[in-house]
Amino acid sequence: MLREPPITINRTHVQEIVDREEAQFRKRTPRSHQIHERAKSSLPMGVSSSFQAVPPYPLFISRAEGSQIWDLDGNQYTDFHLAFGSLLVGHSHPVLVEALRDQLGKGSLYSLPCADVVYLAEELVRRFAPIEQVRFCNSGTEATMDALRLARAHVGREKIVKIEGSYHGHHDAVLMSTKPYLEDAGPIERPNTVPASKGIPSNFKTNTIIAPYNDAEALDRILTEHEGEVAAVIMEAVIMNVGVILPLEGYLQSVREVTRRHGVLLIFDEVKTGVTVAPGGVTEIYPVEPDLICLAKSIGGGMPIGAFGGREEIMRRINHSEVLHLGTFNGNPMSMRAGLVTLTQIFTPEAHAHANGLSQQLGKEYEAVIEEFDLPMHVARIGAKGCAMFRYERARNYRAWFDIDMDVSYAYWLFLANRGILFPPGFDDQWTVSIQHTQDNIDHHAHVFQQFVRELVR
Ligand SMILES: Cc1ncc(COP(=O)(O)O)c(C=O)c1O
Repeated sequence: MLREPPITINRTHVQEIVDREEAQFRKRTPRSHQIHERAKSSLPMGVSSSFQAVPPYPLFISRAEGSQIWDLDGNQYTDFHLAFGSLLVGHSHPVLVEALRDQLGKGSLYSLPCADVVYLAEELVRRFAPIEQVRFCNSGTEATMDALRLARAHVGREKIVKIEGSYHGHHDAVLMSTKPYLEDAGPIERPNTVPASKGIPSNFKTNTIIAPYNDAEALDRILTEHEGEVAAVIMEAVIMNVGVILPLEGYLQSVREVTRRHGVLLIFDEVKTGVTVAPGGVTEIYPVEPDLICLAKSIGGGMPIGAFGGREEIMRRINHSEVLHLGTFNGNPMSMRAGLVTLTQIFTPEAHAHANGLSQQLGKEYEAVIEEFDLPMHVARIGAKGCAMFRYERARNYRAWFDIDMDVSYAYWLFLANRGILFPPGFDDQWTVSIQHTQDNIDHHAHVFQQFVRELVR
């Protein structure tokens, strides 16, 4: 239900907050600035992943523990960034530290199988309903790349469909229409394929077709137009590259029906949603069974990991004569031990409930403030993840991105950082609450948000 038209944000106030908070940020973090300046001569943009290069400059980190993280100047933050949601476990959990010390003493890399790879595979099969068999790799990017190759081989077709605004890592086939400009994006119901980077061969553009989120009829039309050409639809069941965009009632079920009707595999990219939205991921919340799922981030307790899995009849194509799946670091003992200990010893049902409960509470605190001040924004939340979307109406698909108030988003990021609340850089991510966060962390966060809003509407 739509609320009454909200208040209008005063642009002068926003600019004042940005100017003041940016000056404050610079004053608090000179060592991050200094080393970033130095880094620019040895690293393009001064970082190793361009996601980290954000204004005014990236915070450089010295250490982290539990829910807390410290920058190079010694400023302390409660970490709601958590490595883009890779640390549902929080930082340096004592059980994990002990297990990894033990493993390090027994060797960090064999490139031969170890028993933990089997136990972790069995745990993923137990947790994630669509998985009968799984293969490990080292990142979300590898997981989606490998899953797509397997899908193409299984179905015997070359094209894939990807949802506009979703991010599936940085390999060529999916680095398309992740955040296209409006003037390039094309019609909403039949978006253009817009490469997000130079250097991608043009045939990738031909082979990746873009569909809008939350519109199964549009997907049906696209698959009809390309009947017999598409191997798989890859999607985030809940989009987490544009804040958080939830599926409309029945949408995922319709996607399942449409893909099945066209003989196309359905791949859920659960790199972000994995264990964070529910112990068994999105398919525990929405009763839809994809053919393959991709995992990474929080399943590894903070060590580099990726995995993809699905029905045995598809996965068995990974063999010496059909689909190659390789990697020196695949199933390495450090990541396997970290994943296994995290999933089987640390992520108890109570631990999941703790993180989800705190995140839900944070969402409610935000909502109460938004309502009290009649702000043009809303909260989107699922499991241990959520965010404030600086946009009045609930987002339905990527095109909502164009009405997000970027100035307010930047003011918010700075304001929170200066008061010890760390969010992911960029405004397209969301908070993650770890199992080590406390009630005090949530109370402090909610209080700072309220302070920010008071400033905004004064
Ligand atoms: C949904 C999704 N898929 C894939 C990836 C790529 O994962 P990685 O950065 O581990 O390569 C990401 C990264 O943020 C992601 O959010």
